[in-house]
Amino acid sequence: MLSDRTILVTGGSSGIGRELVRQFVSHGARVLTTARRESALLETIDGLDSQHAFVAPADLGSRTGREIVATEAMRIAPIDVVVHAAGVLGPKAPLAEYPETAWHEVFHVNTTSVHLLHQLLVPLLAPNATVIGVSSGVGRTGRGEWGMYAISKAALENWLEVLADEWPGPVYSVNPGGTATAMRAEAVPDEDPATIPTPADIAPIFLRLARANPTALSGEKFDARDFIGTDPMAVAET
Ligand SMILES: NC(=O)c1ccc[n+]([C@@H]2O[C@H](COP(=O)([O-])OP(=O)(O)OC[C@H]3O[C@@H](n4cnc5c(N)ncnc54)[C@H](OP(=O)(O)O)[C@@H]3O)[C@@H](O)[C@H]2O)c1
Repeated sequence: MLSDRTILVTGGSSGIGRELVRQFVSHGARVLTTARRESALLETIDGLDSQHAFVAPADLGSRTGREIVATEAMRIAPIDVVVHAAGVLGPKAPLAEYPETAWHEVFHVNTTSVHLLHQLLVPLLAPNATVIGVSSGVGRTGRGEWGMYAISKAALENWLEVLADEWPGPVYSVNPGGTATAMRAEAVPDEDPATIPTPADIAPIFLRLARANPTALSGEKFDARDFIGTDPMAVAET
């Protein structure tokens, strides 16, 4: 279903990004993934077809790291789909107490680095490449104590809207909704992870949007939970 697609997934060393790498490759795509932890990236692609799964360990917060990703992306270009799944939570704290250093760091990774990586990737993207931003419910409606995480995702939403108006290919925002990952456990420590969807549960919308000629309009915003249990192949054809 994705055999004609070359996909870059950021944040592939854990959680949602890791699951997307595995599902994209298992559906036939060639996938390059990046995150800081090399050993965790290698775990992600363990058992996958080595001709289809590639890693680029790098810190997306640094120019050097983004250049490493672009250099590796050049080897598999043109890239048909980019999924910006890397992100950091930062502290849960009221704005009155939010630490200045974290303010800058969280915005830098969640928003600025997405933009700067996109700029580096532009020459390597297929003419109608799909760009998918991984947003958050608190980026669509702010919530107390989510601080710069919420604000950075709201800025990401707006960045995606601006890009959708400029870029010839489709641009989407996907809100995973609370999903059982390390980040969610850090954000909501009292929650039983067994009571919320897994990364595999929320993957169908990403598969649908990664296909060639997705039916959704550029600029559309999705809630991944709306697609839980759907067959991405069937969804794509409705
Ligand atoms: N889980 C949820 O409930 C939920 C809900 C809404 C939105 N989201 C969003 O979904 C995306 C994935 O989150 P997740 O829940 O899967 O969290 P996760 O398991 O913590 O994954 C975050 C990923 O981002 C990477 N990353 C963080 N900082 C990076 C940096 N400076 N450079 C490169 N990679 C970096 C991490 O890899 P390294 O540590 O190896 O660098 C990791 O692969 C995030 O954008 C998050 O905001 C999650």
